Amino acid sequence: ASDDSTAAVADTTTTTTTTTTTVTRDDFPADFKFGCATSALQTEGSGLEGGRKPSSWDIQIQDSKTEAIDIATNSYHRYKEDVQLLKNMGVDTYRFSISWSRILPVGTIAGGINQKGIDFYNNFIDELIANGITPFVTLFHFDLPTPLDSSYNGFLSSNIVEDFKAYADLCFKTFGDRVKYWATINEPQVWGPYGFGSPGPNANAITDPLVSSHNIILAHATAAKLYKNTYQATQGGEIGIPLAVQWFEPYNGNGNFQDENASRRAFDFSTGWFLEPLVYGDYPFIMRALLGDQLPEFTDEQKELVKGSYDYIGVNYYTSYFAEATPISNEDVYTSYTQYMHATVTSVGPDGNTIGPPTPGSSAIFVYPEGLRKALIFMKNYENPKIYVTENGYPELRDDSIPIETALIDDARIQHIQEHLTAIKRARNIGGTNVMGYLMWALLDCMEMGSPYQVRFGLNYTDYLNNLARTPKKSAGWLKDWLAASTST
Ligand code: NOJ
Repeated sequence: ASDDSTAAVADTTTTTTTTTTTVTRDDFPADFKFGCATSALQTEGSGLEGGRKPSSWDIQIQDSKTEAIDIATNSYHRYKEDVQLLKNMGVDTYRFSISWSRILPVGTIAGGINQKGIDFYNNFIDELIANGITPFVTLFHFDLPTPLDSSYNGFLSSNIVEDFKAYADLCFKTFGDRVKYWATINEPQVWGPYGFGSPGPNANAITDPLVSSHNIILAHATAAKLYKNTYQATQGGEIGIPLAVQWFEPYNGNGNFQDENASRRAFDFSTGWFLEPLVYGDYPFIMRALLGDQLPEFTDEQKELVKGSYDYIGVNYYTSYFAEATPISNEDVYTSYTQYMHATVTSVGPDGNTIGPPTPGSSAIFVYPEGLRKALIFMKNYENPKIYVTENGYPELRDDSIPIETALIDDARIQHIQEHLTAIKRARNIGGTNVMGYLMWALLDCMEMGSPYQVRFGLNYTDYLNNLARTPKKSAGWLKDWLAASTST
């Protein structure tokens, strides 16, 4: 890998532009992973086929949308086509998730194992391997078997820990001979606060997120330690957790000490919330100080369990924010845990500009590769973990009036990938971080949970009006050429 001599400073406070250099495959080590990602709920469809039973998200999406969960991209039936899309691009890795209720329809072993579900994932994994693609498997990507939600509120209850452990154990035992990359619980910060169900009528916006996240960490750690203690020696794989990572820039600029501290608190209340227990065994000091008794405490035994429960940290990176300090007053009445961080988080800076260019498919995602570089470098503070960028992607708006030939020309996505790869290259070569993979969201346009079927994240186009036909976009072809243009192989 060549050195990037054009970027001057490797720290996290200086802003450098990430678009000036060309990035090539040879800027990364030969064993650096390049791949795509999706999840079961967003692709499989066939919600009630082959013995599967619903998850909490099936119900929510079905309630809100006429195009049912039952369809998605129909990958339950068309996974072989998906594998060909991967092969066509020349990527080496596919991150997908197992639908818990497809192999344990009611969530527990006692409720019965669904052999057809096991067969499906066995065939899918075998198909990937036969085509030279490494499976990277997420155990839990938002879709909680309904009975675990209705009987004990999912991750809001500590009951989840043993049920998740048993499910994970079944997966390691069944698929671990071929799956060497495991991710436990996807983006706990995003849907986790309400136990992965929806906020119930009596939801407590202060304590529910804290309690549910506590149980998520314990469930993650229990499964990860099970893997490390029981399976790793014979199966030889890695396990970690994909976190939703954002960078926070001080609203009034670097040098504004109060906002710099606010940015740090915002990082602690999002990424640090999970990262610090995994690396050091306890929550960030500032969370403990500000939330007091409301933040659950780890027992000594739990600290021991949680600490070191990872081989890698997954980074899902889409956008960043500004953070501005808000004062503490005696009059404060808190209605949500985020108010305790005493920072206002916003995408719009003091000059009225957003932190980066907007994206057509999401009012919450702005293109800011610099935030990825800074976050990766900052994460070195946590004992320089091995990192995979487990998601990064560019959303277009679905607009059925655009002819397909036009919709396939996704130059903005190509630029987005280049800029983020440049950020990773710099974080590695100059920042000295240990990033070892880049997985693009998404392999193909699929069902976005917050806005079902309205957004296109895919490098491959899904024709929702024509039997879900898949067609590579320009970015898929660009990626293929880029990966192939290595001078060292
Ligand atoms: C992260 C989530 O893991 C994934 O499910 C979602 O589709 C993408 N972000 C895009 O919003």
